[in-house]
Amino acid sequence: PLYGNFCEGFAWSVATASYQIEGGWRADGKGLSIWDKFAHTPLKVGNDDNGDVACDSYHKINEDVDMLRRLKVNHYRFSISWPRILPDGTTRKINEAGLNYYHHLIDALLAVNIKPQVTLYHWDLPQALQDVGGWENDTIVKRFRDYADVVFSNLGEKVKFWITINEPYNVANIGHGYGTAAPGTVIIKDFRPGTAPYIVAHNLIKAHAEAWHLYNDRYRAKQGGIVGITINSDWALPRNPYKQEDIDAARRVVEFQIGWFAHPVFNGDYNKVMKNRIRERSFAAGLPKSRLPEFTPEEVKRIKGTYDYFGFNHYTTVLAFNMDYKNLQHYDADRGVGTIHDRSWLDSGSAWLKVTPPWFRTILNFIKEEYGNPIIYITENGISERGNMNLNDIHRIHYYENYINQALKAYLLDGVDIRGYTAWTLMDNLEWATGFAEKFGLFYINRSDPSLPRIPKQSATHYATIK
Ligand code: FCB
Repeated sequence: PLYGNFCEGFAWSVATASYQIEGGWRADGKGLSIWDKFAHTPLKVGNDDNGDVACDSYHKINEDVDMLRRLKVNHYRFSISWPRILPDGTTRKINEAGLNYYHHLIDALLAVNIKPQVTLYHWDLPQALQDVGGWENDTIVKRFRDYADVVFSNLGEKVKFWITINEPYNVANIGHGYGTAAPGTVIIKDFRPGTAPYIVAHNLIKAHAEAWHLYNDRYRAKQGGIVGITINSDWALPRNPYKQEDIDAARRVVEFQIGWFAHPVFNGDYNKVMKNRIRERSFAAGLPKSRLPEFTPEEVKRIKGTYDYFGFNHYTTVLAFNMDYKNLQHYDADRGVGTIHDRSWLDSGSAWLKVTPPWFRTILNFIKEEYGNPIIYITENGISERGNMNLNDIHRIHYYENYINQALKAYLLDGVDIRGYTAWTLMDNLEWATGFAEKFGLFYINRSDPSLPRIPKQSATHYATIK
């Protein structure tokens, strides 16, 4: 179906995340995470679903690896549950049983020539660390570095591809801005309105940089792997392409999403668009200084260049228009953007996700131009459906064909240095606050059968042939 190929050694992958699939929430000494607590709080997750059992991957290594073989991928992206390794988040106690689970999984992968791509933080923070402020408390930077140290030293002989943090934007924005993901801080009641997401983001960036330096200084020479951060972003088109204020609004969407994190990691500091907007609005709201924290000159130096590649998650596009908020305390006032979808865009099972393949190529080119033509690994891309078993998922085949085709054009025609592509996700799983209802999997899981059988959808068979 495609008219060319990606580079030699291209990483074809599929992704999961610990809380979404593992289950075993109290098995063998695992500590609690903020997602255990959030999902156990009534009304936080759709249908009051939780990840106590999820796909039971903690007990189903063989079944999971078997699916990966059938997909013919040469990489598998999964994440490590921090509290499974360090139950209270600190190195006071290392849970060997937790480490063993990952050893067994990785050994099983390597035995069939599938290379692990490991995410250190895909949102399941130890609850014990949340109890002392979590990502809002800057001591988290050292805690994260210590955790990374334990993981690199124990698993780094076998793992050569590391992702420090998955989608810091969503951690800051959804977890601490809107509050619809754990820990669910509702900032409207915050005594410093609107500041929590910026503080959280600040610490996420510093934590990433420390983990990168740790690897670079202590492990790279011996282990020879690569380390990056995975940043997610929609593309944004101006609702009215002839109106400057909508063009500016569309640009702000991307600067407040990719730029928030990529600008510090690639250039050392926040971008001007964010700095100016947030400063201006903070003063207008009567605050003595900008809500956006500043990096010291030493921090700028330390953060700049902490990447071996650009990890990128992408799903969809929005139409953006300028929106001036009267209430400057409102979290969205800084960005000052409203978004809608074009009615011609095909739906998915997720309200936020419309099928918009052409702008995948555009946003990949944006990253190339903006951040100095970095090596890019696409670390997530995919589509959902709702409802009962639907193995005949031609919408997913359509989605993957079209998005991969756009990535291929970016690679072949535009010279974007794409080295890997990762489908989200291996099997239907706990889609965070929407529960099990939104299904992104290449494999369906029959949840009414206690053995949770994995059944390939048509897209699984198709994905195996794409490479
Ligand atoms: C991303 C998350 C991933 C999954 C997809 C649908 O934001 O990283 O865990 O939920 O969305």
